[in-house]
Amino acid sequence: MPEVCNFEEIFSKILAVRSKISVARAALQEICRILVDRVPHYNWVGFYLVDSKRSKELILGPFEGAPTEHVRIPFGAGICGQAAEKRKIFVVPDVERESNYLACSPDVKSEIVLPIFKGERLLGELDIDSHTTAAFTPADQAFLQEICQLSAEWLEQLNELI
Ligand code: SME
Repeated sequence: MPEVCNFEEIFSKILAVRSKISVARAALQEICRILVDRVPHYNWVGFYLVDSKRSKELILGPFEGAPTEHVRIPFGAGICGQAAEKRKIFVVPDVERESNYLACSPDVKSEIVLPIFKGERLLGELDIDSHTTAAFTPADQAFLQEICQLSAEWLEQLNELI
């Protein structure tokens, strides 16, 4: 079972990033860091950006956790690619039971991917891996959706640079 977290307190720390950091990449990096540090069942946290030149591909952005070989992911490939193609949240309680999955580490047991939009435009995604099976509850999802809303502006700024 994932540990119960004080999401409200963590969210207020993330809100504070807005007034402290103005550079988009640094702000998103700080969000990843806070999430990995403060939520014990978040073991890898990262943002993927939609490639503005090759719009059916994701590029790895700021992340916290072990380096991954999946620095570019075509739409439709793995959980990230499926979430981008279907434009919906994917919660995978047991990655071993997901056939369309791109493994990063054998320690990962469950994963959540949330698309990030500005209006109708898909900007990228927030991807979180956990070493705990079925780590992501509806409370995690609601918390992470708020973080995605907050991050959209920074993601848009980063998208313009690629
Ligand atoms: N597992 C993901 C790939 C990205 S890593 O988790 C960092 C997927 O299946 O799309």
